[in-house]
Amino acid sequence: MDDNGLVVTQNVNKIYGTAVRYQVLFNITLTVPRGQFLALIGPSGSGKTTLLNIIGALDRPTSGAVFIQGQNLNDLSEEDLARFRNKFLGFIFQFHYLLPEFNALENVLIPYWIASGRPKGEIVDRAMYLLERVGLKEAAKKRINLLSGGQQQRVAIARALMNFPQLILADEPTGALDTKTGEQVLELLAEIRHESNMTMIMVTHNRDVALQADRVIELIDGKLCKEVYPRVIGIKEATEILESHACNLEDINTPRTPLQEE
Ligand SMILES: Nc1ncnc2c1ncn2[C@@H]1O[C@H](COP(=O)(O)OP(=O)(O)OP(=O)(O)O)[C@@H](O)[C@H]1O
Ligand SMILES: [Mg+2]
Repeated sequence: MDDNGLVVTQNVNKIYGTAVRYQVLFNITLTVPRGQFLALIGPSGSGKTTLLNIIGALDRPTSGAVFIQGQNLNDLSEEDLARFRNKFLGFIFQFHYLLPEFNALENVLIPYWIASGRPKGEIVDRAMYLLERVGLKEAAKKRINLLSGGQQQRVAIARALMNFPQLILADEPTGALDTKTGEQVLELLAEIRHESNMTMIMVTHNRDVALQADRVIELIDGKLCKEVYPRVIGIKEATEILESHACNLEDINTPRTPLQEE
């Protein structure tokens, strides 16, 4: 096992359906080192969310394996997986799935509550600190449905950070926001990530956002197609590669898996 990979996927395939089988991911083999900001791009329907959900143990691969810190997720029970998600991962979705009848502070405390029960004073202090970091100290006691979309997304970020996650999985976290609010949310995420050397995998439709990442991977029709390191080769060359039609990762997708020949 690759010791440098916080996340390692090995020949991950995903097929939906039983009567009609529909393959969505093909042989995804990928190593994400600790501390990396990986942007996942690709057309609608290319399998980005499916891959993110499999890495985050919200879904299981049809074949292949995901290792997190060397632990094969296939070997964990549903209960272990739930614990793993809660302790190790911070999820940030496009629609933030906050609980509307609770206030901002309560929403941030929910992951702790699920893991460990009623929060003590210092835990509430951490939640307040996180709300302050996302610029929402004053809104802590406001009900979620009284906050704007951008404010709600910032509550979702604070919530994702509550249990000191090592891995942030973000699925179009700014997709529902206007450009300016989206930029602020991304800056905030970058800041927090740098402070604690967190690893982040972010799905985005926005090329400019992707180019801020350490590494960009493009999925096409469920296959790894392109990979660039914008900070290494520069934004200009990275853009050219992403705009070209040829894949630069074809070797990774071959040989074809037996699954595909069915
Ligand atoms: N639960 C499901 N059952 C059957 N098919 C599904 C399921 N979830 C996703 N799919 C299909 O799998 C393919 C990949 O979906 P996925 O949501 O991973 O794409 P995506 O790259 O995230 O797209 P978008 O950019 O639109 O969010 C799509 O064709 C979708 O219709
Ligand atoms: Mg998606």
